[in-house]
Amino acid sequence: MADKKIIAVLGSTGSQGGGLCRAILADAGGGFACRAVTRDTSKDKATALAAAGAQVVKADLDDVESLKKAFAGAHGVYAVTNFWEHFSGDKEKAQAKNIADAAKAAGVKHVIWSTLEDIRKFMKADDKRMPMLQEKYRVPHFDAKAEANALFAGLPTTFLVTSFYWDNLYMFGLAPKKGDDGQLAWTFPMGTAKLAGIAAEDIGKVAYGIFKAGNQYVGKTVGILGEALTIDAMGKTLSKVLGVGPVKYNAVEADVYRGFGFPGADEMGNMFQAYRDFEKEMIANRSLDATRQLNPALQSFEQFVTKQKAAIKTAMGV
Ligand SMILES: NC(=O)c1ccc[n+]([C@@H]2O[C@H](COP(=O)([O-])OP(=O)(O)OC[C@H]3O[C@@H](n4cnc5c(N)ncnc54)[C@H](OP(=O)(O)O)[C@@H]3O)[C@@H](O)[C@H]2O)c1
Repeated sequence: MADKKIIAVLGSTGSQGGGLCRAILADAGGGFACRAVTRDTSKDKATALAAAGAQVVKADLDDVESLKKAFAGAHGVYAVTNFWEHFSGDKEKAQAKNIADAAKAAGVKHVIWSTLEDIRKFMKADDKRMPMLQEKYRVPHFDAKAEANALFAGLPTTFLVTSFYWDNLYMFGLAPKKGDDGQLAWTFPMGTAKLAGIAAEDIGKVAYGIFKAGNQYVGKTVGILGEALTIDAMGKTLSKVLGVGPVKYNAVEADVYRGFGFPGADEMGNMFQAYRDFEKEMIANRSLDATRQLNPALQSFEQFVTKQKAAIKTAMGV
């Protein structure tokens, strides 16, 4: 480890950071070492990373001193916050500030900040088609991450604009399910727009590509995706790969989706509406060529469904 560049990976037990850790560990001769950061070094995902060769350290995004220790001696930091643990845009910004302050104190050479775009920039403040949430955000987990970009000023940072995880199908309950009529169906407020998506594991592989490429990505914004697909097209691929009947797409209005009442329904309704109403801008912010260049193993949706067949079938109940 001594001769390798250490990457301190936040969210190491989660999707993005976990993917980065696995990418670093899979490339033993790549010159990088993984320092996996978690609040609980005894959890299964942390011990699995240790067994695979990662140094596992304890730190909390709410505790800047713990982050300074976790970043000491590191070459790079992969910075990701988890909105879905607390649902607060302001808390995400406070955690991002702790990360940036600790990275400055540790003098790291390269930070990748996992961010998203500010949806407010696509609309006038008095635009009524989508409600404001938490008083000041359109899509809090997008807008707050974008606002936090400024906190990384003065640090050698790459701003990584991610996309909707296809893994949400089996990890977030978004897979089609059988209705009372026995037909598979799913509901989104996406109209006929294309949703920019990616296999979550590919985000970490892209991040590894950015750390390897080094200085040329410092100060740059990199928008990534695996594919942009309509909900209908995704349904057709699910039917084909899983060998199940057609998937009916119920295209609802965003207001209807926001009213579904599950935790985060308003947030998700605004998010899908943003992907629908600003389809052109959202797709333009992400480059397939750049993503593939950084991660030559990038999966298409069909490859992703093939790989995750068992988990998706379980989620769909088929
Ligand atoms: N789902 C999507 O489609 C999607 C798309 C784009 C962007 N995102 C963004 O991705 C982010 C979440 O990343 P993910 O999906 O990779 O996470 P995840 O799989 O849900 O796992 C959460 C990770 O965050 C860590 N974490 C949470 N709170 C922490 C704290 N206070 N201190 C230290 N570590 C903490 C957890 O570590 P321990 O529990 O081990 O401490 C865990 O490793 C969200 O902010 C979301 O907005 C999601």
